[in-house]
Amino acid sequence: MSILVTGGAGFIGSNFVLDWLGCSDEAVINLDALTYAGNRENLVSLKGDSRHLFVKGDIGDFDLVARLLNEHSPRAVVNFAAESHVDRSIHGPEDFIQTNIVGTFRLLEAVRAYWSGLEGEGKGGFRFLHVSTDEVYGSLGLGDPAFSETHRYEPNSPYSASKAASDHLVRAYHHTYGLPVLTTNCSNNYGPYHFPEKLIPLVIHNALAGKPLPIYGDGQQIRDWLYVRDHCSAIRRVLESGRLGETYNVGGWNEKPNLDVVHTLCTILDEFSPRADGKPYREQITYVKDRPGHDRRYAIDATKIERELGWKPAETFETGIRKTVRWYLDNQAWVQNVTSGAYREWLGKQYGETK
Ligand code: NAD
Ligand code: DAU
Repeated sequence: MSILVTGGAGFIGSNFVLDWLGCSDEAVINLDALTYAGNRENLVSLKGDSRHLFVKGDIGDFDLVARLLNEHSPRAVVNFAAESHVDRSIHGPEDFIQTNIVGTFRLLEAVRAYWSGLEGEGKGGFRFLHVSTDEVYGSLGLGDPAFSETHRYEPNSPYSASKAASDHLVRAYHHTYGLPVLTTNCSNNYGPYHFPEKLIPLVIHNALAGKPLPIYGDGQQIRDWLYVRDHCSAIRRVLESGRLGETYNVGGWNEKPNLDVVHTLCTILDEFSPRADGKPYREQITYVKDRPGHDRRYAIDATKIERELGWKPAETFETGIRKTVRWYLDNQAWVQNVTSGAYREWLGKQYGETK
């Protein structure tokens, strides 16, 4: 038996593949286009492991996906592949439309053709799990209840609009063709292999490099933080026992204003790797121009997945964030590799940094 994972060289996808092969011998076919966000180094510990087959390619390539499905007969597809960074979607939405909407559509078409040809248990047991985001629900006010699965879709950025479109396509393939789909909408992940364009790894990286720690606007925007390994265990649970056609919200019960997150990171770094001049890392905090259309608050109500599937996160923010900072300190070579070349061009575009 095997599963096909897309986007398995990215942040969450690579954690998922490592986690999966850490607790099962079921093979993984890993299809990833290796955009700037995909990094084969994340999977280096699987070198020579016959349970892992890496294929460089696009989810929008119908023929390639069809060939992989027919050759390997996976019992499930888990779709992580996407353009995932909100700020990049504001600078250039095109890639987001192409991968997140057109790519998901072509992937669904290839999967539908494959699944239609299955019979008996193979057909009945097949699953397509689509990994999505809480951002499709839009922005909450301070006193609003957290997002439940029935919250209306109100995406505000090109990124979240493209993910919302992909969720609708997945839903429609279930409703119209009976494709056995599952969708998860989760909150902000953090942990190992997180590309340093996102808040937590960017702040750790900049702090250690003696650079400014950029806070958009007033820093009071709220996100719910989910340790990436907890997200992986949630996806395994949904794949195993989720009800067909259902969506499951996945969250960490860790709502934090951005400024608090950055203060926490600074405090942990003061402890683990104090500045040479003895001053606190907080001194590097700098307020910068806000993100256009910045969503104020996300919060996930994760009671459905707990009630139906018995899943709860294992980490609190306090435990997960210490592990994360430790991982970055212990893996500076990984950080050096991913922050060369194209990454520096991105910093110039977003923060006006010169090379
Ligand atoms: P990421 O940007 O780190 O990785 C995306 C991966 O997809 C990369 O390896 C990239 O090479 C690959 N990819 C991009 N376009 C592709 C294409 N056309 N064909 C094949 N591969 C392609 O993203 P991530 O943070 O790991 O997010 C994974 C998924 O989870 C995404 O669907 C994202 O929307 C969703 N999500 C992420 C978060 C988060 O906090 N990071 C939260 C909620 C949902
Ligand atoms: O909520 C789930 C989403 O979380 C995922 O769908 C996205 O793929 C993922 O990128 C993430 O989106 P965010 O926009 O919330 O993550 P990001 O790390 O970019 O930003 C987190 C918060 O920190 C957000 O309010 C913007 C703010 N921020 C971010 C950066 C990069 C800053 O204040 N300064 C920064 O330099």
